[in-house]
Amino acid sequence: MALAPGCKRASVARVTDPRFADFANQWVPLGLARTIAADRPFAFVVADERIVVFRDAHGRLSALHDRCPHRGVALSLGRIEKGELQCPFHGWRFDGAGACTHVPWNPQARRDSLGATALPVCEVAGVVWLYTGLTAIGTPSIPEILTRPGLRLSAQTFLWNVHWTRVMENMLDAPHLPFVHKGTIGRALKGKSERRMDMEWRETATGAQIVATREGEAARTALRYHYPNVMELAIDPGGRTLRLLAVCTPERLNRTRLTLYTVRSFAKWPWLDPLFARVNARIAAEDKAIVESSLPACVPAPGAERSVASDGPTLAFRKLWFTRIRDPKPPEPSTSTE
Ligand code: FES
Ligand SMILES: [Fe+2]
Repeated sequence: MALAPGCKRASVARVTDPRFADFANQWVPLGLARTIAADRPFAFVVADERIVVFRDAHGRLSALHDRCPHRGVALSLGRIEKGELQCPFHGWRFDGAGACTHVPWNPQARRDSLGATALPVCEVAGVVWLYTGLTAIGTPSIPEILTRPGLRLSAQTFLWNVHWTRVMENMLDAPHLPFVHKGTIGRALKGKSERRMDMEWRETATGAQIVATREGEAARTALRYHYPNVMELAIDPGGRTLRLLAVCTPERLNRTRLTLYTVRSFAKWPWLDPLFARVNARIAAEDKAIVESSLPACVPAPGAERSVASDGPTLAFRKLWFTRIRDPKPPEPSTSTE
C-alpha cells in the first residue's frame, strides 16, 4: 500500500522503540503544519511516547522518537543545524530519516548503527499527520472539509485530565447540549428535552455520520466521526461554511490533548482567529470539569454503566475503542508500505 504524499517510512522495531500503548497503528492529526517552523524542533506526547517533529534540509516534515539513541535524552531540547537535529547532550546529529550524520570526537564511529527511530509523518491539507507505529499501514483519512480550497483553518489546544475516550464520546454526544451548554450552543434546545430524540450512527468508509431526529423535526446530520479520534461539527450559518473539528489525542493515561480546529469560509483574516478561539474556549470550558469528573476516568467495560437509546453514538464509538483501537490487529508485513 502506498504512503500518503510526503509520508516517510520508518525503521525496524527495537525494544526501546515507541509502543503507543492502546493507541498503536493509527494515523492521527498532530497540529497545524504551518506552526512547524524550520528553525527549531517541536515536542509532542502521544500515547505515552515522546515525539519530536522538525523540518529537514528540504523543508519536509520528519518525526523521530524523542529519545537520543546515545543516552536517551530528549532530542527536542536540541537544535536544528542545516536541516538536521542536533542532540543537546553530546551533539550527535540526525537527518530527517533518523540516520546519524555526525558524532563529535568520534570520526571513526560506525554511524550506520547509531540512528534514531523515525516514525511515519506527513503534511496533508495543512495538518501534520503522525502514524503511531514504525511502518505505516494505509493513509490518514482526511476529513473532506480540510481538502476544500479557500477556507481558513485555525487551531487551539487544551489539556484535559481524563482518558481520551471520555473526551471523544463527549464530542459525539448531542443530548448533553441543553444542560452543559444552556447559555451557548445548547440554548436552542432549552425546554425540548421532553421530546424524543433518535440518534442514528451511519457508518462510512472513514468513520460515521450521526443523524439526529428530534420528534416533530426533520432529521439532521451535523455531527461526523472520523476514525479514530476526530469529531466534526457542521455549524454552517446561512449557507456559509463553519466547521469545528475536535481531535482527542491521548498524551498520557488520563491526560488528553484536545485540539479544536476551526474551518471557515468567512471572516478569514488571521487576526480574527482569536475571536473564534474565544467562543470555542468558552464551550470547551463548559464541558471540561464535567467530563473530567467521570468515574472511572476511562470508559468502562460494556454493561458497567446504564445507557439509553439516545446514547447510540457513544456506544458505537465504545465498540470501536474496545475492538479496533485499543486492541488492533498487529500489522501484516505483506501490506506494509513500499
Ligand atoms: S545523549 Fe544524545 S548525543 Fe549523547
Ligand atoms: Fe459539550
